[in-house]
Amino acid sequence: MNAPVMNTEALAEPIAGRPAGTGRPALHDAAPRRADGRRDAAPVDDRHGAGAAPAYGHLVSSGVDTSHGAILYLEDVTVSFDGFRALNALSLTLDDGELRCIIGPNGAGKTTMMDAVTGRIRPDSGRIFYGQTIDLTRLAEAQIVAAGIGRKFQRPTVFETMSVFDNMELALENDKRGWASLRAKLDSAQIGRIESILETINLRAEVDRIAGTLSHGQKQWLEIGMLLAQRPRLILLDEPVAGMTDAETEKTAELCLQLAGEHTVVVVEHDMEFVAKIARTVTVLHEGSVLAEGSMDAVRGDPRVIEVYLGR
Ligand SMILES: Nc1ncnc2c1ncn2[C@@H]1O[C@H](COP(=O)(O)OP(=O)(O)OP(=O)(O)O)[C@@H](O)[C@H]1O
Ligand SMILES: [Mg+2]
Repeated sequence: MNAPVMNTEALAEPIAGRPAGTGRPALHDAAPRRADGRRDAAPVDDRHGAGAAPAYGHLVSSGVDTSHGAILYLEDVTVSFDGFRALNALSLTLDDGELRCIIGPNGAGKTTMMDAVTGRIRPDSGRIFYGQTIDLTRLAEAQIVAAGIGRKFQRPTVFETMSVFDNMELALENDKRGWASLRAKLDSAQIGRIESILETINLRAEVDRIAGTLSHGQKQWLEIGMLLAQRPRLILLDEPVAGMTDAETEKTAELCLQLAGEHTVVVVEHDMEFVAKIARTVTVLHEGSVLAEGSMDAVRGDPRVIEVYLGR
């Protein structure tokens, strides 16, 4: 697949007071393109990729405009695979700082929704706005990362042979030189930031551990920490507690609650006990559209939801 190449010229300006970073190109380049093992989607249309990037530079550099309270709008978004509609006129609005849980049966379109928001897949139709002004369907994947949207895949994609600290260092947003930064000395503020993130993700004591020796849950936290290093405004977590122990799941619930507010957090999960613990607004997807939305109790009691999902 022809992944769009980020045009760093277009992103040279800072995003609303933050230094422009390159997100995690190094990590993404090194990681398998399809962490969840699914087939590759149709190649992303590069009309708005590297070639067109300068035209959108101002959108990225101006930061996200959440003056109306919302940070993400999906309007009538349709994504088809060989005629099958994985997303079917999906409309969804997320408020800035909220914690949104998205549930739905296998194949409902949850991961595809994240693929569409992060530019991995181009919708056939519909619009996806980040704040009032940034049309994500016109940005390349790396530009979307740089604009402040971080995404964790279903399987962790940390650098297994490197220490926890070195993984974090690589993820630091000012890591413009990629691997070269390993030779550069971090200043105390950067070290402080890494320590503070490690504290948040329960890995302070594991700072020198080789990432490959961490438990599955700890790797998931490390990946979340690597996302946080980029100071994302919007964080998308796809099945963060799958495969975790009960204790890890409990800590991940606390982490999600802690991240909301400062960040907008979208959690896709099948673990209903976990969802119930963190739920504010729950959106139920089914066949690529929103079936129901509301409190956990409201959606749990919705007969349509029981029919297609919870009652199965
Ligand atoms: N790249 C692809 N090629 C073909 N079909 C795809 C592709 N990606 C997703 N689909 C199909 O689109 C539908 C939605 O898939 P998606 O992965 O978004 O569901 P999901 O809600 O994340 O499911 P799960 O809970 O199992 O992760 C499924 O029927 C899936 O088979
Ligand atoms: Mg999925």
